[in-house]
Amino acid sequence: MLKILGIESTAHTIGVGIAIDEKPYIIANERASYIPEKGGIHPRESSRFLAEKAPEVLARALRAASTSIDDMDGIAIALGPGLGPSLRVGATIARALALRYKKPLIPVNHGVAHIEIGLITTGARDPVVVYLSGGNTAVIAHHSGRYRVFGETLDIALGNLLDTFAREAGLGPPYVVNGLHVVDRCAEEGSKFIEDMPYVVKGQDLSFAGLLTASLRALKRGAKLEDICLTLREIAYSMVVEVTERCVSHTRKREILVVGGVAASPYLRDKMEWAAKHHRADLYIVPPEYAGDNGAMIAWTGLLAYKHGVSIPVGESYIKPRWRVDEVDTPWRI
Ligand code: FE2
Repeated sequence: MLKILGIESTAHTIGVGIAIDEKPYIIANERASYIPEKGGIHPRESSRFLAEKAPEVLARALRAASTSIDDMDGIAIALGPGLGPSLRVGATIARALALRYKKPLIPVNHGVAHIEIGLITTGARDPVVVYLSGGNTAVIAHHSGRYRVFGETLDIALGNLLDTFAREAGLGPPYVVNGLHVVDRCAEEGSKFIEDMPYVVKGQDLSFAGLLTASLRALKRGAKLEDICLTLREIAYSMVVEVTERCVSHTRKREILVVGGVAASPYLRDKMEWAAKHHRADLYIVPPEYAGDNGAMIAWTGLLAYKHGVSIPVGESYIKPRWRVDEVDTPWRI
């Protein structure tokens, strides 16, 4: 049995997971997340938090799986994409463990890991993947040995749009309460659409920056907050669904898989369900435990990669803050 430890620290979560190559596949998934009391995430403060919490999270994961680092076949690390200071925390720990315990080091792309954990936990096989998180918005499908990006945001990510607006409007942090984003919840009380809010889809790409600016302007103008949230939500989610539908049509794939921290929205799910039905595709959504950043997804993807000969010398394990999913060969998925 192959056993891989995975470390995630690309943004504000330090996660440690352990994966094995037989059911139940994931035997530990522990994490700690930095949530600033006010304002946005400061990269330096976030990385300090990750470094402080890492030993405890690692110990919790080993305890949960009743195992030790000696028992591992390799150490998988998310080398990117992400924030430099955060990436360095996890990379430093992973390198130290690999050297100290003489284990192979396995480089993992964070985006690819979001996709792979989505596949293994939902049973989807060859879907159009909708990857939605605080830092990423992309529609992706596998073709000829790699995940290919069929459309993506040209500026800010969907999660960033929702969180930034919530922060400016005084709705958060925290941005997600009982599994529902505060913008989603606020929109439930909205009753009418605000006019002249931009819906920007260019070819297969999306732009949310103008929508954020227009929403903030409406707020300043004194428009009803609930109506702004409703309009923002409907426009943003519809844009994502539009490019997803077109990708399904072009690729003729018969599955849609939604992954990443914003995957859980029930309103987005409604729209995706409608689109999936229309295209006779099956809809899969990553379970909440594996939607946000987590160590299990790094461990699992590391296991797939290691089984196909992927590892990296410690001296070459540089972090890659801008590492794209379409730069990664996936020998485990031809
Ligand atoms: Fe992520």
